Amino acid sequence: MKLLVTGAAGFIGSTYVRLVGDEHEVVVLDKLTYAGRRENLPEDIDLVVGAIEDPAVVREAMEGCDAVVNFAAESHVDRSIDDQDAFARTHVVGTGVRLDAARELGIGRYLQVSTDEVYGSIESDSFTETSPLDPSSPYSATKVAGDLLVSAHVHTYGIEASIVRGSNNYGPRQYPEKLIPLMVLNAIHGDSLPVYGDGRQVRNWLFAEDFCRGIHTVLMNGRSGEVYNVGGPDECENIEVVKRVIELTGANESLIEYVKDRPGHDRRYSLASDKLRNELGWEAQVHFAEGLECTVQWYRDNEDWWGPIRSGEYREYYEKQYGKALG
Ligand code: NAD
Ligand code: DAU
Repeated sequence: MKLLVTGAAGFIGSTYVRLVGDEHEVVVLDKLTYAGRRENLPEDIDLVVGAIEDPAVVREAMEGCDAVVNFAAESHVDRSIDDQDAFARTHVVGTGVRLDAARELGIGRYLQVSTDEVYGSIESDSFTETSPLDPSSPYSATKVAGDLLVSAHVHTYGIEASIVRGSNNYGPRQYPEKLIPLMVLNAIHGDSLPVYGDGRQVRNWLFAEDFCRGIHTVLMNGRSGEVYNVGGPDECENIEVVKRVIELTGANESLIEYVKDRPGHDRRYSLASDKLRNELGWEAQVHFAEGLECTVQWYRDNEDWWGPIRSGEYREYYEKQYGKALG
């Protein structure tokens, strides 16, 4: 198959391209925002640099493709609280533009990569695909809008599309604004480890390669009009994640600093993945302990990847977000 993969210069999209690139022909469309990096992709990849909300660029990139997989997004909740414009443009307008192009070009299959955050927070038990949508942040609210547009295009125009909702991903090449790579790099540098609120929030950790295997399974065998949850095998409180990072890096616990909580912070995410497991045979292969160890080692070994990030736009973002300079 020839696949158009949008947003593949980012963390999960580049993991996906690495997973399926030998088996399928891949064209990448990516705007290369602060989170999209050319060096995340194989050198010989067919890369179109452009925005998913630009109809002409999208049509040209999509022409001749058999399927579209969409990763393109503004992915950081904290940034959406600060300024939601790019989130609405990319998640809502961008999804609409791609769906229109897919319909006009008669694309056989469309897959929307979405998030467990569309369901909001859950105290006990786990969300299934039929749980109500109850987003808390501008990030998750605009992701809901994108998901609903996909369902509307299936219903109204009969396009072949599915939605995949993943829990918190981690692994190599994740931009260090997110909890795990931020803590790993700060711990390596002896910088403070900023824990929001009481640190007792729970996330459902999923190794990015496992998510990508789930995404590809749904692309190839999922039913159109259906949603599939892809949850990680392990849940963990944030403070526990930070302590494990400290252990793996040999840093000192005194680096932990409790800081002001994120506004509207969701307390717990938890996804039931029984539908994907029972219908399509997917199973997570990497447990958190093993995946975290391998992720910490990757950051230790790849300073050429994160070195330029820590000295660029990220430094300004960090100061604005945390009110202090990196050490
Ligand atoms: P990321 O921020 O690392 O990468 C996003 C990519 O999208 C970047 O390459 C960026 O340049 C590109 N992009 C952004 N706006 C664009 C636009 N308007 N046009 C073209 N390209 C654009 O994100 P990620 O963590 O890899 O997330 C990928 C997808 O997976 C997103 O849809 C996200 O909502 C979803 N998701 C993420 C997680 C997670 O834990 N990171 C979990 C579940 C679902
Ligand atoms: O659940 C899936 C979602 O996971 C994805 O849809 C998002 O794209 C992705 O960013 C992620 O969202 P979170 O908000 O859960 O991830 P983040 O890494 O920003 O934060 C994880 C938890 O850690 C959360 O409870 C906030 C907390 N945190 C985060 C940062 C950056 C801290 O305590 N300190 C920090 O400095």
